Amino acid sequence: MKKIAIIGAGTMGHALALVHALGGCADIRLQDVSTEALKRAPGLMQTALRTLREAGAAGPDKDDAWLAGVVHIVPDLAEAVADADLIVEAVFEDPEIKRQVFAAIDQAASDQAIIASNTSYLDVFPLIPARRQKRAAIAHWYTPPYLVDLVDIAPGPETDPGVVHALRDLYAGMDKKPVVLKKFVPGFIANRIQAAISLEVYRLLDDGVADAAEIDASVKYGLALRMPLLGHLMKADFTGLAMSQHAQTNRSYTPPPVRGRSDRLDALVADGHTGVMAGRGFYDYGGRSPADLMRERDLKLLQLKQALKTIGEIEAEPSKSGSPTVQGGNCGHMCPQRDHWEHSL
Ligand SMILES: NC(=O)c1ccc[n+]([C@@H]2O[C@H](COP(=O)([O-])OP(=O)(O)OC[C@H]3O[C@@H](n4cnc5c(N)ncnc54)[C@H](O)[C@@H]3O)[C@@H](O)[C@H]2O)c1
Repeated sequence: MKKIAIIGAGTMGHALALVHALGGCADIRLQDVSTEALKRAPGLMQTALRTLREAGAAGPDKDDAWLAGVVHIVPDLAEAVADADLIVEAVFEDPEIKRQVFAAIDQAASDQAIIASNTSYLDVFPLIPARRQKRAAIAHWYTPPYLVDLVDIAPGPETDPGVVHALRDLYAGMDKKPVVLKKFVPGFIANRIQAAISLEVYRLLDDGVADAAEIDASVKYGLALRMPLLGHLMKADFTGLAMSQHAQTNRSYTPPPVRGRSDRLDALVADGHTGVMAGRGFYDYGGRSPADLMRERDLKLLQLKQALKTIGEIEAEPSKSGSPTVQGGNCGHMCPQRDHWEHSL
């Protein structure tokens, strides 16, 4: 796919333009209704690119001039999508705005264009015009997508499987990690797991079992150490599945109820300690600027990714035994509290 239109140039849109540019797409149009967002986008892409170059994750030829030649700022949506092969929708997570954007895309895009929505939790398929359903899917990224390689690909009820394969192949070819879901679920996989972790972490904090540093130490040095190599289910294989089966029936652990709030979190936010952007959250960052902290995080994450690439994976094929039958359609009913997922990115 050569011509890409990205609709929405906010937190995700500008970064997705960069991802597609680094992935080899040579004609990217970045569109937004906000002139401010369009003005800000090139600087944000340049800063990210500088960090990637510095970490060796982008070559020295990937400079600002290269970027300007590949990503074009196009304020008009119809012009942006006119002959695009792939249209990435990354506008506000608001059903009415998304519906209007899909309608405008429908008016101007070629019949063959693939529409890929970056929605986090909305079932966008009812918002997409009927004649576009076959060539529409969800391709959901994590922020920042030039660092986090996971992309969830989910078909709608009428999506042509060829469209899913095309998106999977496109992103795999960019060295990203597409995960194809059989159907849309709000929050996909990673955000659902993260939401479950958050429930437990805030309960431990609110119940006074441990403080932030102890909880993070348990995550970093115990839980998370094995995860990049094994995931969760291969780890279960190593532990032994009889043990996992036993744990499922162990009633000494009960999952925490969904409270929808946390005393510790509420107190921090009320004090204005909202995290890195405020210089303090669960941790105090000693007056360092958010840009400086994010740069350090990004460079270290890139080093970690490089180390994991060098280490490689444990080779194994997914086992065919014990596979459940998966039914089609989306499953909004699995998630009555939809905005729960919105906040778990
Ligand atoms: N921020 C994240 O971490 C994240 C991660 C994964 C997915 N998402 C999803 O990506 C999408 C975009 O999120 P974001 O965080 O980039 O939001 P954002 O608020 O940073 O940016 C959204 C952009 O959409 C633009 N926009 C609004 N209406 C428009 C229209 N009619 N035409 C063109 N542009 C329009 C806005 O001006 C804004 O610049 C949402 O669906 C969100 O759920 C966000």
